[in-house]
Order: sequence, then structure tokens, then C-alpha cells
Amino acid sequence: MPDVDKSKTGGEEQKDFSVGVPQANQGFFLKGSAHLPWGIKNRLSRIFNPKTGRTLMLAFDHGYMMGPTSGLERMDLSIPPLLEYVDCLMCSRGGLRTCISPEVNKPVVMRCSTGATVLKELSNEIIGVTAEDAVAINASALTTQVCIGAPYEKETLANLAYCINEGNRLGLPTLGVTAVGKEMVRDARYLGLACRVIAELGAHFVKTYYCDKGFDTVVAGTPVPVVIAGGKKLPEPDALKMAYNAIQQGAAGVDMGRNIFCADHPAAMAQAVRAIVHENATAKKAYDMYLALQNKKKK
Ligand code: 5RP
Repeated sequence: MPDVDKSKTGGEEQKDFSVGVPQANQGFFLKGSAHLPWGIKNRLSRIFNPKTGRTLMLAFDHGYMMGPTSGLERMDLSIPPLLEYVDCLMCSRGGLRTCISPEVNKPVVMRCSTGATVLKELSNEIIGVTAEDAVAINASALTTQVCIGAPYEKETLANLAYCINEGNRLGLPTLGVTAVGKEMVRDARYLGLACRVIAELGAHFVKTYYCDKGFDTVVAGTPVPVVIAGGKKLPEPDALKMAYNAIQQGAAGVDMGRNIFCADHPAAMAQAVRAIVHENATAKKAYDMYLALQNKKKK
């Protein structure tokens, strides 16, 4: 019989149960997430910084449907220098395995959908990476996109439901992405509809585009954290303004790709966006920071 916890003094056991100190009921820092299981919360706490409640995700999954798009011709060269500045990676299984060292200890949001390229109908996707595959690669979340109003809307919703169901089984949260076809208007009404559908299906967080009018209503009407995509490359001050506006209107972070890795100085841009996300920097302060960092690099 082990007796290691039986430290006796004068024949009496010395134990401290702090009787009278009630055990605290712990809440959880993310919107709409209080009733999730421990494993899902733990993974979300790797993606979102519990101190700020926000995240800076770096999206570089574009090649799965766009091929070697600008800025990602050589992911092995363009992505590693940015890793120290971001909280989380959103990428494809192949992109991760071939270009990112397994020694990098950043949470990964794994792109699970496939089946369409820019040459064809983008909403015609299936699930190509199973939840088990994602666990095997040590992903922290699954992701797929939904194309509300597109020809294969139902199939993209089924893909999302698959990720949520399988992720729930294995303790992985799911990021639902609002993909907006060329024919759709990126306004608060459309984005609000898409985000709400994604959240009601059970996604744990949602990625959508920023819109100039009514973005705060998109966030308010979505009962889980919302992060914004960057979209097409903008001049750096405009991209920083968009990130700032989104954060001020309630976004829980950004999942930015082209506006970081296609910036004139990607590492400086990642740091400037980070200041907006985690330090509440204004867009002007972040741009000044961007300029200072790029000048420092030139010297
Ligand atoms: C597409 C995605 C992409 O990862 C995302 O849109 C790319 O980021 P960015 O628009 O900032 O380049 O989710 O469905």
C-alpha cells in the first residue's frame, strides 16, 4: 500500500481541504462558448489569446483552389518569417506538411474542403481532409467554407455540418468561412445572413468579410466570435484601417492572407496588424509602426 500522501505529525493527518472556500465556477472568455466541452475550449484558447480574447490568424490556404498565387509561389520562403508575429495558421494539409517545420508550435486551422478550383464552380466542394486526418496532423480546428446563395449552397452547408459533427466527436472546434461569390453583394444583410446560418449550424467561430456599413450588426447577430478575412490586396494604410474598423466594431480578430504576405514588407505588416488586434492600436499608429519597421529593415 503506498503511503506517500499520508504525512503524519503526531499521528494526525495534515491535509488542507479549504473547507468554506467555495470552488469557483469558471466562465469562458469567448462569446457563445461557455457550454463547450473542455477539449474544444482548450483548442480555442490556443487560437484566441485568452488575455485579449482575440486572434491574428495567417491564412495561406489559397493554393488549394488558386494554385501558386502571388505571394505564395514559394510558401517555404514567404511564410516562415511571419510565423513569430501571428497566433495561428490557416492552411492546407499539403502546405503545412511541405513548408512549415513541425517544430513550429502554432495552432493550425486545417482547410478540409476541396473539389473546386478557380477554373470551375467554386461552391462545388466536398470534404477532402477528414477530422481524423486533422487530428493526426495536430490541428486545433477544422475549417470549410459555405457559399450561401451559390449553386452548391446545400453541399457546402453539408460540408460544414460534417466538420462540426466530426469535430465535436473528437474535441476540435470548427471555423465556418463565408465565401462570397462574384455575383453576391458583400453587404451587412448578406454577410449577416451567412454568418448567422454558420453559427446556428454549430460552428464555433466564423470568418467573414468586412463591410463598410453595418458590420457591427453582423457581429451582434452572430452568437460566436467573428474574425475577418482580408480579401484582395489593398494599399497597406487601407488594409490597416479595415482591420481597425472591424476590431472596433466587435470582430474577435483577423484571418488575413494577401494583405499580409503580399504587402511590400510582410513581416512589418504582420506586426502592424498585430498591434491593432492585441494592443488596440489605431490604424494610424499601426501604419506608423509599419513604416518604422520597414525603414529599420532597410538600414
Ligand atoms: C477562402 C479563405 C481564405 O483563407 C481567405 O479568404 C484568404 O485570406 P485573404 O482573403 O485575407 O487573402 O478562407 O475561403
